[in-house]
Amino acid sequence: ARKGSPTVEAYRLKRERGNKRESYWELGHAPGAKAKESDQREAERGAAEHARLQANQDWKQASKFSNALLKTTLDNKHRKRLACEIESARKSLPVYQVKRQLLNLVRENQVCVIVGETGSGKTTQLTQYLEEEGYATFGIIGCTQPRRVAAVSVAQRVAEEFRGGVRLGEQVGYAIRFEDVTGPNTLIKYMTDGILLRESLTYPDLERYSVIVMDEAHERSLNTDVLFGLLRNVIAKRRDLRVIITSATLNADRFANFFGDAPVFNIPGRTFPVDTFFSKTPMEDYVDAAVWQTVQLHIQAPLPGDILIFMTGQEDIETTCEALADKVSKLQNPHPIIILPIYSQLATDLQAKIFEPAPDGVRKVVVATNIAETSLTIDGIRYVVDAGYCKLKTYNPQLGMDALLLCPASQSSVDQRAGRAGRTAPGKCYRLFTSTAYVRELLETNVPEIQRTNLSHVVLLLKTLGVDDILEFPFLDPPPRENVLKSMLSLWLLGALDANGKLTSLGREMSSFPLDPGLSSLLFTGMQNGCLVECLTIVAMLSVPNVFVRPQGREEESDAAREKFFVPESDHLTLLHVYQRWIAGGSRAEWCAKHYISSKSMRKAREVREQLLDMVRAKKMVESSCDDWDSIRKAIGFAFFYQAARRKGVGEYVNIRSGVVCGMHPTSAMYGSGLGADYVVYHELIMTRKEFMSCITAVEVQWLAEAGPMLYVLKHVADEGVEIAQRVQQRRAEIEDEIRRSSSNRKEDDGGT
Ligand code: CDP
Ligand code: MG
Repeated sequence: ARKGSPTVEAYRLKRERGNKRESYWELGHAPGAKAKESDQREAERGAAEHARLQANQDWKQASKFSNALLKTTLDNKHRKRLACEIESARKSLPVYQVKRQLLNLVRENQVCVIVGETGSGKTTQLTQYLEEEGYATFGIIGCTQPRRVAAVSVAQRVAEEFRGGVRLGEQVGYAIRFEDVTGPNTLIKYMTDGILLRESLTYPDLERYSVIVMDEAHERSLNTDVLFGLLRNVIAKRRDLRVIITSATLNADRFANFFGDAPVFNIPGRTFPVDTFFSKTPMEDYVDAAVWQTVQLHIQAPLPGDILIFMTGQEDIETTCEALADKVSKLQNPHPIIILPIYSQLATDLQAKIFEPAPDGVRKVVVATNIAETSLTIDGIRYVVDAGYCKLKTYNPQLGMDALLLCPASQSSVDQRAGRAGRTAPGKCYRLFTSTAYVRELLETNVPEIQRTNLSHVVLLLKTLGVDDILEFPFLDPPPRENVLKSMLSLWLLGALDANGKLTSLGREMSSFPLDPGLSSLLFTGMQNGCLVECLTIVAMLSVPNVFVRPQGREEESDAAREKFFVPESDHLTLLHVYQRWIAGGSRAEWCAKHYISSKSMRKAREVREQLLDMVRAKKMVESSCDDWDSIRKAIGFAFFYQAARRKGVGEYVNIRSGVVCGMHPTSAMYGSGLGADYVVYHELIMTRKEFMSCITAVEVQWLAEAGPMLYVLKHVADEGVEIAQRVQQRRAEIEDEIRRSSSNRKEDDGGT
């Protein structure tokens, strides 16, 4: 490899930092950069092996080598696809035709709304046009994305296009939570909307930016919605700031009106017709149905023609990929197939693969969440198979918290999904639901996140920004009052707000960590109980994708390996234990492989831990540490006292606050431990057929009473237990009253107050 060539250099640096991201884009895409020879050799070996397995029709094994196969074909492709090819690809995008008009529009208007089909080049091109036009001279160009995956992958792509290819993190960079790949030279910065929201805590006027592109506004993510309100104030103060809102759907007038009749520009689209087929009868199992449909397509549909399957979440996606590989392997003489999953928790290097064109004669099948609806454009898709569902984070008022619920996708979502098949040629979309269901059961559009999720985090942030009356804030669609109240109540329980709904100093401290209020709270209870460092590790471990791996076909071995780490009274402590053992074992990849632990997640946890540690140090918090696990348990109990359950029978618990019966998640260390703790706190509730607590810790009943006197009182009967106190009900009525009073001033019709 040529030393000093930008991308190889970036790759080397990343390796040294322990951040081994072997994405193909980074491996040698810039002109002149070559993949390392060893990689090349490995790839060739892999391809040979793939061919052999394919000849023997050993599909399961073969699919493992498809990565290697991709690598070789890519290297060849990469060498061919030099700067000029990228240039011509850029010029063929619909947005290029209207470049001048767009730039004029931006020059003449402080805010504008740009609407264009997915794949028209909004995300990747606009920022570059703005840079060429000089907008990065006195500030940088920021572009927000509701999804982390999109922020990273788009930045990678733009780095590769920008000035013939630059190193990611130089002129083009990205920032997502706990990962900042930008530098002093950065001109174009992609980031999650959450990052920009946090930046506004430190720089309320966002002085660093000369332009902010609010991308994917149609997604209506919680953070984007809040940013709208904030930006409306900022543009009034900063006349030099430009705001561009982009949307993939046509109802952009809402955005335009919100910003005082901003102009709306439509990028002329270029789409091909898509034939849509509904299923005749309702499907019993959408995974089976999707696999069946895809196999049919794979047998019958001509090549080239890639298939995109819309599934719900990681678990369904993995099941689909496995079942599909299995079914295809049983076919007589099938075409070679590459099956690729994509979901937000997937490792970055694996995500990048979905963009790679399949080699000739090979069919690519991408199994995705709704991330592929508009955020990511995958070229070459001709067929869409749509299960018709999505997982939505939804606030459960009964429990007072969020749960991921399986919901039917909306009509506008499934229409977007169908559109993915007609981007480059006429396509077909197979819907695994009936046309009656489409009309009767599907909502017309998605419910904005702000109207369905827990707002604690946002309320805390707005309070920190000095927005005292949350209901006064200019929301595009105001959240239901009930949700605002519930969030204020939970912040009050955590001590972040006082009885008058004002931010406390603890609340201010909590908001300075990029964490959910519950997790920041654990840092503070950890400090009080002399175990901040351990709690920090636990928080870091909870902030990364699952560290336990459970490969298919080796479930028993991996379960046994996982059990060796179990601390019977606590999943939180189990995570701590894994981390400590990993460090003691030299934090090596071999160690991870042996113990069925994800090396990637562990390295990420270490990185997150270090960042949190820096913040703790900057705040001069006492860096206490202890190895008494009971103290740590106490800190956990104190942080999560409002998420507690009492034992009811064997393995069965009742949520103390809601009275709802819940079980322990089978993956919990406490599940089979026979340790029937009377009281537990949990980190999350998972709703499937039943409610499950996941990440559980056994606690003493006294801790709950002590941590949450406003919530619980000890009842001294034969068995000493806790009961819900009346006080919280009272307090709730008070908060409701207060809000009613303040909002009645707004002369809003709210039902007769
Ligand atoms: O934002 P919009 O949906 O309008 O389009 P875009 O994301 O800017 O995509 C423009 C083109 O860039 C498409 O042809 C994508 O396939 C391509 N692209 C890519 O090859 N790799 C990425 N990581 C992102 C985009
Ligand atoms: Mg886009």
